[in-house]
Amino acid sequence: MTALNNMKNGIRNNPIGVFDSGVGGLTVVKELVRVLPHENIIYFGDTARVPYGTKSKEAVIKFSNEIVDFLMSKNVKLILVACNTASAVALDNITEKAKIKVVGVIESGVNAAISVSKKKKVGVIGTEATIKSKAYENCIKKTDRNFKVVNRACPLFVPLVEEGWINNRASGIIANEYLKFVKKSGVDTVILGCTHYPLLKKTISKVLGRQIQLVDSASEVAKKIKYILANENLINISNKKGNKRFFVSDAPQKFKKLGEMFLNEKIRSVIKVNIEEKYV
Ligand code: DGL
Repeated sequence: MTALNNMKNGIRNNPIGVFDSGVGGLTVVKELVRVLPHENIIYFGDTARVPYGTKSKEAVIKFSNEIVDFLMSKNVKLILVACNTASAVALDNITEKAKIKVVGVIESGVNAAISVSKKKKVGVIGTEATIKSKAYENCIKKTDRNFKVVNRACPLFVPLVEEGWINNRASGIIANEYLKFVKKSGVDTVILGCTHYPLLKKTISKVLGRQIQLVDSASEVAKKIKYILANENLINISNKKGNKRFFVSDAPQKFKKLGEMFLNEKIRSVIKVNIEEKYV
């Protein structure tokens, strides 16, 4: 076997790095594991600084770069930015700096929406920062400028999910307030442009009605990563189930509890790290 082959084999075993502002990115990890069951995953949730959705662009770029350095120190072979807010405002900046492939979730969500919208009229819901950035709208229009986009920030959805209020009366009332305008606008597809929103799918769907389709980026981005790794000959060739390691910047116990709800499986351990330390 050549030295290059040996090196590739080593890299193939390396984990995929995934990060989010907190626990929400586990909705994306769930899909990633479904599509790539043999990959090792290192997840970082920035639980000390969550939410990102209400922060400035500069702050989210700084946080994202610190996390990328941390993940690079763990020898990840690719970084998935599971957080929509970080993908919307920081992806270009971190892609430029990172020495490995960095994948965000916006393009995948857009592709999912474009492929199902017949009326070419799409709603986008997300955090304040994501909506303000117009990342989804710009990406949709870049792909097909005939699309109309209706945007709506739904900032209370994140704390609702974190509180576990997923299918109760309060979430229904709040969803109704946020989404009545989107429902009336005539869209036939809505992008769930935030890690937490897939957990509110039932409630959102009840408000919007069955004629409006809901899409999120999770399964699309997992397929995209499989494609990228296959292309670069970096798919882990082990036939063992991949392992997952979890790191956070605060409150590991809370992450564990909520994380099990997001992942729908037991989490063995969560390690707290000081993310502001210099990792590279
Ligand atoms: N992870 C964030 C996102 O997908 C939601 C939570 C936050 O505001 O940090 O936009």
